[in-house]
Amino acid sequence: MLQTCLYLFEHLFFFQLLSDYMQLLESLKWRYATKKMNGQRVPQEKIDYILEAAYLAPTSSGTQPYRVIVVTNRELLEKIKVVANNQPQITDCSHLLIFAAWDNYTAERISHIFQITEQERGVPTGTMENYKNMLIGAYTSRSAEENFAHTARQAYIGFGLAIAAAAEQQVDATPMEGFDNAALDQLLGLPEKGLKSVTLLPIGYRDAENDWLVNLKKVRTPKEEFFIHYD
Ligand SMILES: Cc1cc2nc3c(=O)[nH]c(=O)nc-3n(C[C@H](O)[C@H](O)[C@H](O)COP(=O)(O)O)c2cc1C
Repeated sequence: MLQTCLYLFEHLFFFQLLSDYMQLLESLKWRYATKKMNGQRVPQEKIDYILEAAYLAPTSSGTQPYRVIVVTNRELLEKIKVVANNQPQITDCSHLLIFAAWDNYTAERISHIFQITEQERGVPTGTMENYKNMLIGAYTSRSAEENFAHTARQAYIGFGLAIAAAAEQQVDATPMEGFDNAALDQLLGLPEKGLKSVTLLPIGYRDAENDWLVNLKKVRTPKEEFFIHYD
């Protein structure tokens, strides 16, 4: 009897795992780069879930060298739309996420995250000194341009997870690079914060009746081309 229970439990657990796995893929098939949103507000718990996914994203050495700006102010969204090629999702969305990366690595920025890590893990101050100094030495000897290319790549990881989390919540989102980065940075005062915009992610709900893309087939490169195997 006990053995039968264990057998059933193991198999149920396996099928649960399998269905969770399938669910992510189903959500990714459901999502698309929404072209027209309907202005409906996304519940706060779903927004929190999407933000949490970006927050938990891995980053190189754990520095989290980017910030996620959340805009719901309608006047500001109107201004952002102008510098984003007038893409309508900017004002028809519920929340606009802006992924903005550090404009450079500095000793202060790197030290700050190590200070937090030592505190949170309850280890003596200085425990991570060697690793921290190695990073500071490596990063601060590079140009700001090279460092921004690195911080922006970290931002894309959070951006990707936010896109997947939105899909999981059956919330639409449009990944966007189609905007004037310098103009947006000025508009939001990002240079004073040491940040540069990387991507936009309007979040909301599709206007299925008026979105030309909603019923078009999702197209991807054939898998034989896309995946390269060395067996
Ligand atoms: C980094 C990035 C930038 C993009 N920029 C825009 C954009 O500015 N405006 C837009 O409508 N779609 C934009 N897209 C959406 C892509 O065109 C879309 O993801 C791609 O064609 C695949 O289609 P799907 O997302 O519907 O599966 C962008 C996507 C990514 C990942």
